Amino acid sequence: MPELTPLYTLIYRSQASRAVHEVTLHSLIRKARLHNQQARVTGILLFAKGQFLQVLEGPEPVLSDLYARINDDPRHYDVRTLAYGPIELRSFGPWPLAYAAVDAAVVDRVTHCLPLPADVGHTPAPCQEVNQLLRNFAQSSTAEN
Ligand SMILES: Cc1cc2nc3c(=O)[nH]c(=O)nc-3n(C[C@H](O)[C@H](O)[C@H](O)COP(=O)(O)O)c2cc1C
Repeated sequence: MPELTPLYTLIYRSQASRAVHEVTLHSLIRKARLHNQQARVTGILLFAKGQFLQVLEGPEPVLSDLYARINDDPRHYDVRTLAYGPIELRSFGPWPLAYAAVDAAVVDRVTHCLPLPADVGHTPAPCQEVNQLLRNFAQSSTAEN
């Protein structure tokens, strides 16, 4: 299917509110996947000891609407945008929302090597750390994930 353009990526970090526990998280992810699939949004959510790191990619107006809702979501706070800008291609093409519970150190490492938006004409590949997470996710991808 041709891409709806302009295609953008959004990367942010946030702190989970106290109330977030596994059941809440699984229900959040299930709903987010349904919505993202319909909206042609793809990405990954990492969760580590109370911190979220999320990368989303999709058509620009859709992404900014979604980010406004995410920002208002009481299940997290201190939402900090790390990057927002145009990309040429998706890095998370097959995944409406890949998910991994990781160590905080992984969140830090991934933060330093994210597929940041680039000038049009240059498409950076996601770094090894992100690729490895995606491979793990793809291998363990079951109804649960
Ligand atoms: C860390 C985090 C990540 C989220 N990611 C998504 C997402 O990728 N897609 C999505 O539709 N909702 C996501 N949500 C949920 C939205 O914040 C919001 O609840 C949802 O879009 C429904 O919005 P509404 O209640 O205004 O309809 C996320 C929430 C949190 C706390």
